[in-house]
Amino acid sequence: SSRVMLGPLVAAIDQGTSSTRFLVFNAKTAELLSHHQVEINQSFPKEGWVEEDPKEILQSVYECMERTCEKLTQLNIDISNIKAIGVTNQRETTLVWDKETGEPLYNAIVWLDLRTQSTVERLINKTPGRNKNHLKHKTGLPISTYFSAVKLRWLMDNVDEVAEAVLTHRAMFGTVDSWLIWCLTGGKSGGVHCTDVTNASRTMLFNIHTLDWDPELCKYFDIPMEILPKVRSSSEIYGLMVSPHCLCVNCLGDQSAALVGQMCFQEGQAKNTYGTGCFLLRNTGAKGSVAIAGAVVRWLKDNLGIIQTSTELEKLAASVGTSYGCYFVPAFSGLYAPYWEPSARGIICGLTQFTNKSHLAFAALEAVCFQTREILDAMNQDSGIPLTQLQVDGGMTSNRLLMQLQADILCIPVVKPSMPETTALGAAMAAGAAEGVSVWSLRPEDLSEVTSEKFEPQINPEGKGHVTPYTTWRCVGSLSC
Ligand code: G3P
Repeated sequence: SSRVMLGPLVAAIDQGTSSTRFLVFNAKTAELLSHHQVEINQSFPKEGWVEEDPKEILQSVYECMERTCEKLTQLNIDISNIKAIGVTNQRETTLVWDKETGEPLYNAIVWLDLRTQSTVERLINKTPGRNKNHLKHKTGLPISTYFSAVKLRWLMDNVDEVAEAVLTHRAMFGTVDSWLIWCLTGGKSGGVHCTDVTNASRTMLFNIHTLDWDPELCKYFDIPMEILPKVRSSSEIYGLMVSPHCLCVNCLGDQSAALVGQMCFQEGQAKNTYGTGCFLLRNTGAKGSVAIAGAVVRWLKDNLGIIQTSTELEKLAASVGTSYGCYFVPAFSGLYAPYWEPSARGIICGLTQFTNKSHLAFAALEAVCFQTREILDAMNQDSGIPLTQLQVDGGMTSNRLLMQLQADILCIPVVKPSMPETTALGAAMAAGAAEGVSVWSLRPEDLSEVTSEKFEPQINPEGKGHVTPYTTWRCVGSLSC
């Protein structure tokens, strides 16, 4: 059978909190040609702890690559046309491994993990005026359990193997991007130990003005700089993968990659990705995270058993069309932006005899939207320029009720691209645009139009046609409506 002629292809490894994907795109048309996805197990060894197995993560990448290439071959697409592979990843998740044996020295501590809460409290208490923003002028971040530095500190203080490897100069630290790139480019026999500016900026050790590791921050957390990966740009050739023999070109934190994939190149544009959490980034440098979005669906399914599959949630919530005054704050891992309160915990309130699981399902969807609204309000206030429309992506955006609710609660249109794999697309675009690969242009005028669907707000600022009383109150009382 004859080969399909497509020109250059670019691939992306998308290693997220809940799953890993490998995707191959046509660099000329941005069409997604094939992909494969594998779920990742999480373990919760203690209350508030969240871990993943670094080897399982790596294995899942290999599995996704193999299966995708098989699918492409079945489609008669020549995989030797893949010119470069980019990596995009869950950010902040922290690993340490031994560079001589290649073995991880502990599980990956996932970004959601709260074990460092007492360390964070101690650090904040030591700052003048108990100021959680003490390091913000350099890092852009509040001192929080979210970021890698405190997780790395915990590993050095509590895992003998890590402490020993640091002492004997065998330890390597990295977020998931660094671990994968090191392994894929040869591991203990010469793997490349690097990260990019977007991932580095989420560690609390990186200076966002000098764009490099900051000696003072490293001293503050008492982290030896020799264990850190080299910081590189998000679009340049890092090295050659051992198998498949292909250029490993870049890495980008998944949320920054989605910003590229949504083509938010103009100042003021913003996107929100509904993944395990919700991540709203605006092209002004301001950013915000909500810890729990998609994870609330998993919780309703696995912990409460009120749905069997994620897709049932939309049906259940739509069957009532209101939360009937029930509110759900899924602060399972504390509250992230704009509160940064690690000790907060989830609540469900406003229950009556009448409340049933459908109302709870509706309240869960509203919770995702309200949290996004809070971040957008904070961003609008900071920038002084209210956002006029929000671009969205991520798994939960297939839930049309959620999208409509989001438009209603934000009082601005919500725009969803028809190709949902925006994060991977962004990583592939950055890989294809790297010098030496140059098969993909990032100039806005060269980019093809993305087909998308628009959800217009259906409630007005006077609250007529409101969804819930709370929604009405928010829209009347807000600054940006
Ligand atoms: O900050 C964590 C974020 O990068 C994880 O994204 O899509 O895996 O929930 P996601």
